[in-house]
Amino acid sequence: MEAQMAQDQTVMVIGGAGYIGSHTVLALNEAGFDTVVYDNFSTGHRDACFGAHLVEGDLADVALLQETLRTYAVDCVVHFAALIEAGQSVLTPLPFFRNNVTGTLALLEAMTAAGLQKIVFSSTAAAYGNNTDVSMLHEDLPRAPINPYGDSKVMVEQMLEACVEPHGLQAIALRYFNACGADAAGRTGERHDPETHLIPLVIQAAQGTRPQIYINGTDYPTPDGTCIRDYIHVTDLAAGHVAAVKKLLATDEPGFSAINLGTGKGLSVREVVEAVASISGCEFPVIEADRRPGDPAVLVADPTRAHDVLGWYAHHSSIEDIVRDAWAYAQKVASN
Ligand SMILES: NC(=O)c1ccc[n+]([C@@H]2O[C@H](COP(=O)([O-])OP(=O)(O)OC[C@H]3O[C@@H](n4cnc5c(N)ncnc54)[C@H](O)[C@@H]3O)[C@@H](O)[C@H]2O)c1
Repeated sequence: MEAQMAQDQTVMVIGGAGYIGSHTVLALNEAGFDTVVYDNFSTGHRDACFGAHLVEGDLADVALLQETLRTYAVDCVVHFAALIEAGQSVLTPLPFFRNNVTGTLALLEAMTAAGLQKIVFSSTAAAYGNNTDVSMLHEDLPRAPINPYGDSKVMVEQMLEACVEPHGLQAIALRYFNACGADAAGRTGERHDPETHLIPLVIQAAQGTRPQIYINGTDYPTPDGTCIRDYIHVTDLAAGHVAAVKKLLATDEPGFSAINLGTGKGLSVREVVEAVASISGCEFPVIEADRRPGDPAVLVADPTRAHDVLGWYAHHSSIEDIVRDAWAYAQKVASN
């Protein structure tokens, strides 16, 4: 019955050809939704738009967005499209503001013109920036990003909030912690280029396509001296989006909520490196290096709001599940 209801409803996934987007399209399809992927393929992959209608277009194209919303009678938008490399954003901030902020402005204009109010937005733990004096990051902390990427995400959250009263917007900003892992059936996975995330980098070292892995900082005030982060399996993230879409479709009440998607438990860099070595069975050089500027010792989500509001829990985010799926997918890509 629930799947039948979803079957009549269409979700437009902007950036649906990317890493998290492609897993979310799979999860939405499995939940019975009709999906439309809207993507400019700047970093996404054409072979990762499973069973969705496909529209090639840019986030900045208000006319095409509006036409797509009307043609497919879209009920809810899930918006992943962004430039995502925080380090690069420090060097070249303007493309980040143009793509992430101005692009989302165009989307909000198109949605308003088409009379669509429901949006799930990909936000990030980077919104918390310097709030590092608390053990678990909760959504009511002040937003304090420390780079233009984080600024761009916070600016979009502020735009969404500003549209609640005047336009009746219904928005959920999901703040992901460290996305990782891959579809357990191997249909899609992480294929960023360049890659900057820890787990795929360690996997590249294990596969021998990267000469070594660096551990940046071994003198942090953590049990093994390395940084601790909250790693969340991309399949759990995808389930969080399905829950957020269902939440928005179940009400016409305008509002904005920020909701963390994380496990509430941290893993150290050393634990991640050891898990990849153990699960891959490969040896690779590990070099202990200096701290990188701007890396806080510990970033862990308080996931209480996701439990309470979305009924969402991380079921796939043990380090064993994450590394097993990421390793299997990387081996599959390497053998093609
Ligand atoms: N990967 C993470 O660990 C992580 C953590 C927190 C937040 N996020 C956020 O999640 C979202 C998805 O991240 P990802 O890792 O899947 O990135 P990704 O680069 O794999 O996917 C982004 C997708 O958006 C598309 N896109 C980008 N700009 C576009 C534009 N102007 N018009 C149309 N399509 C465009 C790309 O082609 C790609 O398919 C991003 O908004 C990112 O900021 C990611």
